[in-house]
Amino acid sequence: MLAIENYQQEFVDYLEKYSTVKEPKGLYDPIQYILNLGGKRLRPVLTLMAAEIFGSDYKVALNAALSIEVFHNFSLVHDDIMDDAPLRRGKQTVHEKWNLNTGILSGDAMLIMAYQLFENYEPKTFQALAKLFSETALKVCEGQQYDVDFETRNDVSVSEYLKMIEYKTAVLVGAAMKMGAIVALASEKEQNSIYEFGKNLGVAFQLQDDYLDAFGNPETFGKQVGGDIIENKKTYLYIKAIEFSKDEDKVKLRKLFSETLEDNHSKIEIVKTIFNESGSADATKKAIEDYTNKAFNLLDDMAISDNKKALLKAFGNNLMNRTV
Ligand code: IPE
Ligand code: IPE
Ligand code: MG
Ligand code: MG
Ligand code: MG
Repeated sequence: MLAIENYQQEFVDYLEKYSTVKEPKGLYDPIQYILNLGGKRLRPVLTLMAAEIFGSDYKVALNAALSIEVFHNFSLVHDDIMDDAPLRRGKQTVHEKWNLNTGILSGDAMLIMAYQLFENYEPKTFQALAKLFSETALKVCEGQQYDVDFETRNDVSVSEYLKMIEYKTAVLVGAAMKMGAIVALASEKEQNSIYEFGKNLGVAFQLQDDYLDAFGNPETFGKQVGGDIIENKKTYLYIKAIEFSKDEDKVKLRKLFSETLEDNHSKIEIVKTIFNESGSADATKKAIEDYTNKAFNLLDDMAISDNKKALLKAFGNNLMNRTV
């Protein structure tokens, strides 16, 4: 096994080879732009690591890893339209830099490109990857629809929220790992265990994303801090704040989260104060730890070496301590 940074470097080198200049530029330039804006590359790294964990060379998994990253970036282009987001990885979002139609069509092309990458595999592997991909991609759409539906609801429960983030985010992290297992020809049991590990890590990851959206450092976060508050997203932070607050703050929060304002500066400040003072910020940190540990506990039952388990734990701990 390589160190985590090496997998990342190998992946980025492969991505560079895949990135060629094509016509029409109006379609392909935005695709190159978003794919080369950076990002943590955590999903493709997980695909490569999973392949090696189950005894294959990571190189066999490069096309699956690329597919996952292209799909992820497609979902971000469309997500940024849906969330009206101005910034991505510290730069303008695709629909801001170009326009709405560009974001839609370049995103559509990326979805196809992600699927096309499976053609590099033999029929049996192709079929398994395509099946997992289709199931996962549909769940991501369902999760994204719940996310939008919840913006205009004020009675979203913790379990509804958890299902929403499982669908929009966690299943893709699970699938990234399962694809590594599939190309390594791991058993079904192994495929499912690594999927569950990835899924729980993915839930922790989205909880952390929500936490950083409110409390991240605007200088380094790369996205608009407070974007979820502006968009009235019903995050764990919000749901727990409603649960823990005194009546006066509950009323204030509910009102603030039913409005669309021109100037959101004071809304963001008030909401963040309530998140902190109610204990919902701490509860969110606790939930991030709990889901990370849940993932780690699943490793106990897996028949892989302690070294490999340690590497996966190091990966999970890094994610928990991230600032972007
Ligand atoms: C952002 O994902 C979307 C979520 C599911 C939270 P990442 O935080 O992995 O984004 P990049 O690829 O590193 O920019
Ligand atoms: C993103 O959730 C999930 C998908 C892109 C499918 P968010 O909307 O929280 O992601 P960011 O914060 O914009 O990266
Ligand atoms: Mg978003
Ligand atoms: Mg979103
Ligand atoms: Mg977010």
